[in-house]
Amino acid sequence: MTKPRILVTGGTGYIGSHTVVELQQAGYPVVIIDNLSNSNREVLDGIERITGTRPDFVEGDCTDIATLRQLFADYSDIKGIINFAASKAVGESVEKPLMYYRNNLDTLINLLDLMAPNGVEGIVFSSSCTVYGEPDINPVTENTPIKKATSPYGNTKQISEDIITDFIHSGAPVKSVILRYFNPVGAHPSSEIGELPNGVPNNLVPYLTQTAMGIRKELSVFGDDYDTPDGSCIRDFIDVVDLAKAHVTAIGRMLSGKSESAIEIFNLGTGRGVSVLELIDAFESATGVKVPHRIAPRRAGDIEKVWADPTRANTILGWKADTPIADTMLNAWHWQQRLRQRGIM
Ligand code: UD1
Repeated sequence: MTKPRILVTGGTGYIGSHTVVELQQAGYPVVIIDNLSNSNREVLDGIERITGTRPDFVEGDCTDIATLRQLFADYSDIKGIINFAASKAVGESVEKPLMYYRNNLDTLINLLDLMAPNGVEGIVFSSSCTVYGEPDINPVTENTPIKKATSPYGNTKQISEDIITDFIHSGAPVKSVILRYFNPVGAHPSSEIGELPNGVPNNLVPYLTQTAMGIRKELSVFGDDYDTPDGSCIRDFIDVVDLAKAHVTAIGRMLSGKSESAIEIFNLGTGRGVSVLELIDAFESATGVKVPHRIAPRRAGDIEKVWADPTRANTILGWKADTPIADTMLNAWHWQQRLRQRGIM
């Protein structure tokens, strides 16, 4: 049976591109819309080299409803949306809150508005463990209380979840799966696609691989006096390909009418808490490359520890993040080396 077409917004971005690969490999025709604000067209070449298929691509901004109307007119066979199109830098969101609210919320509202009139049945939404703030208890389940967001970025994720919920409760004939990602890391094992941070990376793994490459002098470990076994913060680092696969499962379940309710929420993590220092160790053991690092003061706004209880996703979606951290680190390193070969970084 032919699979329905999926619209992937933000599909040339980091998680989006890995998801397009998995969708195409599972037989879904894809159309991507992306404004290339934090990615580039060459990502399409990487996707094509891995899958043998070049996804259809529309360069455009989802905050512009006319662009989306045209897209749905051109692709009348879209049945599902996976919405990655959003800005995601915590610090930048504090400096440019309106840009964050506009980008992230207008995009979502436009998509929701256009779904039913265009025969689109369901939307998968990229949320984040940031909605749990600093949790009182780890691991966190989907029922762990939501804490007040500490940044406009985090707030857009909470508000987006509310918008989707209110819209569906109003009786809108659409379904949604909300996926709360923990910390996505790594790259495709082919090294054809991966994370391409703009400028100096904020996130740990791109900073780490750039330091290993000699692009950065040393990695600062932000704090070693937290209430954790080695004093550094603890996260749930999830391999980006595992994460991508969860989207394929989620959209398949939703579009085949298997959802238990019109909105389903899943944590996407490994269930394992790994500290910043442990992650550096894992990288060094997997690659044999030393990462110069030193302990630096805590970073404002950081969560001390958070990791997922992924039981719901494991049992209901039948999905599990099972890539060993050593493989993930090796893939991240190979991607960094590929960027060097290509003269990008
Ligand atoms: C943050 C956001 C998350 C968002 C994600 C992606 C919060 C609480 N979390 O995750 O919602 O989805 O970014 O943009 O706002 N670290 C270092 N040195 C570095 C960089 C990071 O020690 O050079 C440490 C941090 O202090 C932290 C850990 O590594 O303890 C992970 O940091 P990072 O990769 O930035 O992700 P989060 O802050 O967990």
